[in-house]
Amino acid sequence: MGSVSIAARAKGLTKIYGSGSALVTALDRVDFEIVKGEFTAIMGPSGSGKSTLMHLMAALDTPTDGEVWIGDTAVSSLADTPLTVLRRDRIGFIFQAFNLVPTLSARENIVLPLAIAGHKIDEAWFNQVVDVLGLGDRLTHKPSELSGGQQQRVACARALMNRPDIVFGDEPTGNLDSTSAAEVLGFLRRSVDEFGQTVVMVTHDAHAASYADRAVFLSDGRIVDELRGASQEELLQAMARIYPRHDQSHDEPFRAPASEADEASATSEGAPEVSAKAQEPADQAEPTAFEPQADRSAVYRDGGHAPSHRGEPEDEEEPTVERSIARRAALD
Ligand SMILES: Nc1ncnc2c1ncn2[C@@H]1O[C@H](COP(=O)(O)OP(=O)(O)OP(=O)(O)O)[C@@H](O)[C@H]1O
Ligand SMILES: [Mg+2]
Repeated sequence: MGSVSIAARAKGLTKIYGSGSALVTALDRVDFEIVKGEFTAIMGPSGSGKSTLMHLMAALDTPTDGEVWIGDTAVSSLADTPLTVLRRDRIGFIFQAFNLVPTLSARENIVLPLAIAGHKIDEAWFNQVVDVLGLGDRLTHKPSELSGGQQQRVACARALMNRPDIVFGDEPTGNLDSTSAAEVLGFLRRSVDEFGQTVVMVTHDAHAASYADRAVFLSDGRIVDELRGASQEELLQAMARIYPRHDQSHDEPFRAPASEADEASATSEGAPEVSAKAQEPADQAEPTAFEPQADRSAVYRDGGHAPSHRGEPEDEEEPTVERSIARRAALD
């Protein structure tokens, strides 16, 4: 039967933070393959290394040891500029905190990555994605005029706009009520089934992971198990078996879906203060899909550079809608 294609691969992936008594081995010689056209969930208790693994697989951070390949490209072989281009053109991100630009409309947020890259918008693809996400009547709204679920759907559309090889989500439903979470998860599922998208999602939540084709379990920086096609019940059983000391309903690492009250507060916090973040030292900035402020050296949390359009000719190019959006985002 047909062989599976690998969208990304890690070999011996190790990440060590700090040194001496503060040394933390966040990832310990992990071998991992992301299968093309599959929906993979990365699960595990808090501190088990999920975000570290995702950031390394997404080329947002560099390992202490080991190697990551995106397709056939060894990430460590890339200089800064091709690495930026790889992140921009081949990878999509969805973060827990949405990270939309508050002064741009939903449509402008969705096309912002293309605008920054100076790429043309494929209107047919835009309409298809927006249609599947049910955002058609929300495109002129600002993030503050959208619910948390709608904001995250805008972030999903943004992540798919450049038809990336892989979409990575770090707890993409962590700030959502259960109904909005189901919409976002349903969309990620459809993007795999209908568009052939490859999706990798970090989650604590067995219900969220039940949308995935495959769940990989991390413990203390190692992959300790995996399940394919598991139901929520099977995932919960596996979690109880793999992490016996976390097998309590009130235990933080595997929390229940967020309540309505959580969502209300999450929504009010959900619109990120992009301009305020621009004031922060780069090494303290939260991960942000796009850092359109003047400081192009903005970095992701773990040190990877935000996608930038450094070196792109700007003023000689004829003005386009895309360039105008990118310029306005840069002014905010
Ligand atoms: N920048 C950093 N500096 C030092 N230690 C770090 C850093 N980032 C992560 N760690 C440590 O690495 C380990 C793995 O962290 P990671 O963020 O990958 O966990 P996680 O599984 O995503 O947890 P959570 O579910 O809480 O998000 C933890 O012990 C964490 O404290
Ligand atoms: Mg994490």
